[in-house]
Amino acid sequence: MAVILDGKRIADEILSDAQSRVEQCVRHGVRPKLAVILVGDHPASASYVRSKARAAERVGIATELVRLPETVSQATLLAEVDRLNAAPDVDGILVQLPLPSHISEHDVIERVDPAKDVDGFHPFNVGLQAAGRARVWPCTPLGILEMLRRSNLPVHGKHAVIVGRSQIVGRPMARVLLQEHATVTVCHSYTKDLRAYTASADLLVVAAGRPGLVRGDMVQPGAVVIDVGIHRVDGRIVGDVDFPSVEPVAGAITPVPGGVGPLTVAALMLNTVALCEQRRRPEGVSS
Ligand code: GUN
Repeated sequence: MAVILDGKRIADEILSDAQSRVEQCVRHGVRPKLAVILVGDHPASASYVRSKARAAERVGIATELVRLPETVSQATLLAEVDRLNAAPDVDGILVQLPLPSHISEHDVIERVDPAKDVDGFHPFNVGLQAAGRARVWPCTPLGILEMLRRSNLPVHGKHAVIVGRSQIVGRPMARVLLQEHATVTVCHSYTKDLRAYTASADLLVVAAGRPGLVRGDMVQPGAVVIDVGIHRVDGRIVGDVDFPSVEPVAGAITPVPGGVGPLTVAALMLNTVALCEQRRRPEGVSS
């Protein structure tokens, strides 16, 4: 029987910490502010954006939501990014992905001022992450790292296997875990004999976008299993991990929903405060 890692409870702890840091900023006359750009009304994206706004309100971060129609031109979207880059009171800019296919995500991500890149997706920040000098980590890997820390599950010296190599989760997760002294293997859809890797993982992070991909016979007894997937299948919400067969084998496991999702949102709040501290209170970050 695995320990169930309660993402909601750990996210609440992280949000309390973020709130204390927001209060410090406010005492110094600065209120952190997050701007979110949402293009179109994709229901999942709209729901994520709502939970980000709720969390920001809870911890005292100001928000600005920019809603643009699905048909918006790339030039108009880039002009909005430019406006937010230039706004002195905006600390973090998040462009909710995915974007419609007529818009280049690369061009938009690269237009965000790296000092306001709250997702840590800009190539400049990816370079700093790769160089071991990250200013911000992408929110999902950061949330997972915070959960492991706060659950007393050390990663140094462990074999961490990541299934999935997306820019949002898989790749930055690998950079985070390397920084934390894990031995890291990244698997993806072209990996031959996936089980050979997953079965040797002490820590298994699954972000493959395929419901139920990892089953109990693919997991080492006692492993820590983090499920980043979220899918609606036959009216139920499930992850990339087949929970019924993996939970009896694992040492600890995140549920879906209520695992990684709330942590991503909480980590976004940490990143917003961190960017505010770095940009507007460079002398007083820890005072
Ligand atoms: N869409 C899904 N996850 C994310 C994320 O972490 N950041 C952004 N900007 N869009 C997303």
